[in-house]
Amino acid sequence: MDIARIKRVQPLMDRRFGMFIHWGIYAIPARASRSEWIRSVDRVSNEEYQPYFDAFDPVDYDPKKWARLAKAAGMKYAVLTAKHHDGFCLFDSQYTDYKATNTKAGRDLVKEYVEAFRAEGIMVGLYYSLLDWHHPDYPAYKDAHHPMRGNEEYKHQGEHFERYVEYLHNQVRELMTNYGKIDILWFDFHYDDMTGEKWGATKLVKMVREINPDVIIDDRIGGDIKSDEPVYYAGDFGSPEQMIPVGGVKDYHGNPIPWETCMTLNDNWGYSASDTNYKSAQNVIRQLVECTSKGGNLILNVGPDARGNIPQKSVEILTEVGKWMDKNGESIYGCGICSIPKPEWGRITESKTHIYLHFTDINMDTVAIEGLGSLVGMPIRLDDGSLISRSDPWNVGSYDGVDNLYIHLPHFATLDPIDTVIKLPKI
Ligand code: GLC
Repeated sequence: MDIARIKRVQPLMDRRFGMFIHWGIYAIPARASRSEWIRSVDRVSNEEYQPYFDAFDPVDYDPKKWARLAKAAGMKYAVLTAKHHDGFCLFDSQYTDYKATNTKAGRDLVKEYVEAFRAEGIMVGLYYSLLDWHHPDYPAYKDAHHPMRGNEEYKHQGEHFERYVEYLHNQVRELMTNYGKIDILWFDFHYDDMTGEKWGATKLVKMVREINPDVIIDDRIGGDIKSDEPVYYAGDFGSPEQMIPVGGVKDYHGNPIPWETCMTLNDNWGYSASDTNYKSAQNVIRQLVECTSKGGNLILNVGPDARGNIPQKSVEILTEVGKWMDKNGESIYGCGICSIPKPEWGRITESKTHIYLHFTDINMDTVAIEGLGSLVGMPIRLDDGSLISRSDPWNVGSYDGVDNLYIHLPHFATLDPIDTVIKLPKI
C-alpha cells in the first residue's frame, strides 16, 4: 500500500467507530431477510415497487437526532446510503426523477444529513450503489441479482450499458460537488464481470479525486486491495461484511492493511419491522474492541423506519455503548494492534503512548504479562482513574522470568462485566 493511501485513510482509521445508515423506500415493505434486497429476492418489478415511492413520507426525519445519537454512542463517522441497489436516490439528482425530492418528502435528504452530522463534528460519508435495478440501461436478463433476471422481456436491457455508466459517473460527481467536502465514499459492489473498468473505474476515481483528493474510498469497485501494486481504483480500506477476520486484514506478505468491518445491529441492513435479533451493548463493545485490537474499524448499522426514526431498540443499545465509550473511548480512538499476543483474559489495544488491557474474563485476581515489567509505568483503571496495584510475587525469580508485569485486579464485583480497561503508560 502506498504512502499516499496510508496518509489519506489514517484519519478514518483513528476514528475506529462509525454509524452505517441504510435508509430508503424499502423501509416501507420492511421485510425481514429481504429489506433493501426485497426487489431482487421477490423479483419485484418497477411497477410493483412504485407504490412505496408514492407512499414515502418521512415525517419524522430529523438527521440532527441521528447525529446526536451517533455522537452519544461514541461514533466518529457516518455513512448514509445516498442510493442503494433499488436505484432510489435520497439526494436531489438532476439525472433522475427517481429521488426523494419527488416523493412526499419533497426535498434533498442527503443535504440535511450531511449538514447535521458535520455540525456534530462527525466525519461524513456517502454510500453509492454501483448496481441499479431501476435504471433502464442496467443489464437485467442475464444479471445475477436484477429483479427481472431470466425474464425474456428484459433480454435487450443493458445493451446500452455505457449510458448507465455515464449516469453513475454523473451522480457521483453531484455527490462530490453539491454537499461540501465528503470524507468517505462507500461504493457497493462488484460481482461477476461487473467490476473495475466495467464501471469506468479509473475515470470515476480520477474524477472523484480531482474534486476531492482526500476522500477515502472503500474497496468494492473492484481490483485487489491486498496486492503489492493495487490498481488505481482498488480503494483505501478493506470492507469485511458481517465478520471480523481472524487476524485482521493483511496483504499477501502478512502486513496489516486498513480495514473496516461493517455489521448490522440486528439481522438486516434496512429497517425490518419484525427483526428483533439485536446484538447487546456488550456484544457491540467487544466487537469494537476486537476490531481495534486487530487494527480495524467497526461501522455499525442502523436502519431507520419509513417515518425516519431509528428504531427505539437501536437507540437504547447505542446509548448504552456510549456510556462505556465515554469512559473507555481512549482505549479505542487512535489505538490499534499491540505486539503482545491476545491474552486469555481479554484483548489488548495500543496507542502511541499507552497500552490498554481489556479485561472481559474477570475470574482471576492476578494476571501476568510476559516481558512488560520494565516497559510500562503505573497501571490506571480507565473508567474511574483509580490505581491498580502491580508488584512481583516474592518468589518470582524462582519460577518466572524477571521482567514480567504482575497486575492485581480489584475485587471482581467492582469491575465492569462488559470490559474493564487498565491503561499502562509506555516508558
Ligand atoms: C452488501 C449488500 C447490501 C449492504 C452492504 C453493506 O453487499 O448488497 O445490501 O448495503 O453490503 O455492506
